Amino acid sequence: MDKLIITGNKNLKGCINIHGSKNSALPIIVSSLLSNENLVLSNVPNVDDINNMITLLRGYRVKINKNNKSIIINSKNVKNISADYDIVRKMRASILILGPLLSRFGYSKISLPGGCAIGTRPIDIHLKGLSKLGVKFEIENGFVIAKTANNLSGNKIKLPFPSVGATENILMASVLAKGETVIQNAAKEPEISDLGNCLISMGSKIEGLGTNTIHIQGVTQLNKASHKVIPDRIVAGTFIILAVMLNNKLEIKNVITEHLESLTQVLKKMGANLTIFKRSILVSPSKKLKSHNVVTSPYPGFPTDLQAQLMSLMCIVNGTSQIKETVFENRFMHVPELNRLGANITLNKDKAFIEGNQTFKGAQVMASDLRASVSLVLAALCAEGDTIVNRVYHLDRGYEKIEVYLRELGAKIKREKF
Ligand code: UD1
Repeated sequence: MDKLIITGNKNLKGCINIHGSKNSALPIIVSSLLSNENLVLSNVPNVDDINNMITLLRGYRVKINKNNKSIIINSKNVKNISADYDIVRKMRASILILGPLLSRFGYSKISLPGGCAIGTRPIDIHLKGLSKLGVKFEIENGFVIAKTANNLSGNKIKLPFPSVGATENILMASVLAKGETVIQNAAKEPEISDLGNCLISMGSKIEGLGTNTIHIQGVTQLNKASHKVIPDRIVAGTFIILAVMLNNKLEIKNVITEHLESLTQVLKKMGANLTIFKRSILVSPSKKLKSHNVVTSPYPGFPTDLQAQLMSLMCIVNGTSQIKETVFENRFMHVPELNRLGANITLNKDKAFIEGNQTFKGAQVMASDLRASVSLVLAALCAEGDTIVNRVYHLDRGYEKIEVYLRELGAKIKREKF
């Protein structure tokens, strides 16, 4: 298992171009299952979750030609088989193939998904939503077996929580369903709108993207289309937080700044010096950074996917900060590892209390999930001495060659393979 060896060095400068969004690209690639025609995608990030999704779909005989960040997908000869357990177990997003396969074949068997170990992460909202479209489910030996007697039929579906994955699954299942589907209390994340916009380019009839009520009028078939994936707001946010921690000048380019508003508002309140342009954010040295209290929540609230990174920053500002995590019930696995690096964080149920004014000091740490891993990299870059981050495969799931990007900014970071 690879590890990263990072020598703290606050002298990072320059600009960084943000790659395409993993969480957009995953459902968009899956949406190709709904059509017999080519789907041409650009700005697809080169990260392991995407490669795993491509391998999963190839197992279904989907043709995928990948050329760096562009891919051409054709699902004309798709075969409805049982998904490869080894891939599904690695990636929770595998559950997204359920809706499109049901729409196409009326039957799907897929093993219960894995992914980051952040909470129990059930799929009940996916299943209840799809059952409203006429699907019957059984869970057998760790597999979900889903069937429809007739074609899927549109319905009104009210989600008990605006789940990102459930909204995407139901959206994909309903574009070819008979009649109208209304998803109430839908997730409003930009990645949902990106998927919806791609489906519209393919010929779907969808209204209300980015709001909590999405209306879908079923159509009989989808056509060929091309689509450019939006920039990854979480990767962008990670580098913005890093720049504030380093207190240096760094420009984060190729972003959609509206998608980062909840983060930039928090950072400004903490005293960060940000200049926000339409497609880039310039971080300049700030006078004094201070503590703040943050509650994570679905978009447009503060993203749970930036919680760990923000916590690293909170360790080195003036004063005590608080973070309340409301989206996942077990998303503080980075806390003991940050404490090993010299942080002073205590936990009480869904709240973390972060004592500021700490100095990170290099140590051996263990990456436990995707965003937890990167919070350790941020701390290590600001630490005195060397830090070894073990089990970095989590990082590779969502950040393109992070050590290469960081080295270009002047970081001392190397990967050791085992
Ligand atoms: C997606 C993102 C992930 C992000 C999360 C929340 C992808 C590939 N991943 O994950 O990076 O952290 O949104 O912004 O896009 N839940 C249920 N039952 C369900 C579905 C979800 O109880 O059927 C719960 C989950 O356990 C969790 C919460 O709802 O506590 C949010 O999950 P959800 O919005 O579905 O996240 P994902 O789609 O898994």
